[in-house]
Amino acid sequence: MYVCSCFGVTDRQVREHQEAGACTPRQIASLSKAGTDCGSCVRRIQGLLGRGGCPRGELESAVGTPEPASVPAHAPAASVAEAA
Ligand code: FES
Repeated sequence: MYVCSCFGVTDRQVREHQEAGACTPRQIASLSKAGTDCGSCVRRIQGLLGRGGCPRGELESAVGTPEPASVPAHAPAASVAEAA
């Protein structure tokens, strides 16, 4: 089934990108362009991805990059900002 008719992206393709590590509509867009034209499919893509699919701290990281360096949970905010 097509989720993005503008670019002919199917739910299966979205699932494949998700299995490869994409967890936000923005990441799906960077991989397939889905959602970058009319935008009417973004909610459908978000629905396919589900909520809370992204590990913490990976919302802004690019797909395919190595895991970010771990930051201790007890680190002060300044240390977290420096590590980012
Ligand atoms: S349906 Fe996906 S951008 Fe238009």
